[in-house]
Amino acid sequence: MEKTYSIKTKRLIIRPLNETDYEMWKDAYISMLPPQNKWDQANSKPTSLKKSDFKKILTANKKNRKNESNVDYAIIDRKSKKYIGRVGFMSFIRSITQSAFLGYSLFNNHWGKGYAEEAVGAAIEIAFTKHKLHRVQAGIEADNKRSLRLAKKLKMRREGVAKNVVKLRGEWRDLVQFALTCEDRR
Ligand SMILES: CC(C)(COP(=O)(O)OP(=O)(O)OC[C@H]1O[C@@H](n2cnc3c(N)ncnc32)[C@H](O)[C@@H]1OP(=O)(O)O)[C@@H](O)C(=O)NCCC(=O)NCCS
Repeated sequence: MEKTYSIKTKRLIIRPLNETDYEMWKDAYISMLPPQNKWDQANSKPTSLKKSDFKKILTANKKNRKNESNVDYAIIDRKSKKYIGRVGFMSFIRSITQSAFLGYSLFNNHWGKGYAEEAVGAAIEIAFTKHKLHRVQAGIEADNKRSLRLAKKLKMRREGVAKNVVKLRGEWRDLVQFALTCEDRR
């Protein structure tokens, strides 16, 4: 049996999805609004919302958590019990670096309520405590205003622009680089 991690913030629970979450997961995709911008996960909805597809996602998530290729946490509203988004880490480098990249996305019907600030702030703590990372990085496209605002609110340090660093929507893109290290929390 896999031991997973769960924390509570004022309004949210941050934990991996599990077998009991199927209805909550399905409802999140059904309740989404049409895509609000090019980064919105409404642009890449799962093609099917069957229980068997959900189980495949859980199996992949578990494998990815184990080998640290992608550690994904669900963001759940404590009051409504709705699945409102995800936050996680990818591109772990261990050895003498101990870093990973942060990723986050809210279902678009939950934007504009401060949930991302609350969830991503908590996830950064999870990175330093549970995952024992020393450095958490985020790469944001220069026109992703909502995400840039979020990085600023989380007091992430802007470190520069990485050129042609990631292939998104079919093209190599620049990313504005942000980071926090353990020392920044003191
Ligand atoms: C990036 C993303 C997660 C940001 O979500 P968000 O809801 O805008 O972010 P926040 O949680 O910081 O909420 C901020 C807004 O909530 C408002 N708000 C309302 N109640 C609030 C509260 N109790 N506390 C804090 N803010 C509150 C703020 O005033 C702010 O409003 P504004 O957008 O008009 O300025 C979301 O836009 C998203 O999922 N985008 C698509 C995926 C994506 O771009 N991911 C990042 C790739 S780098």
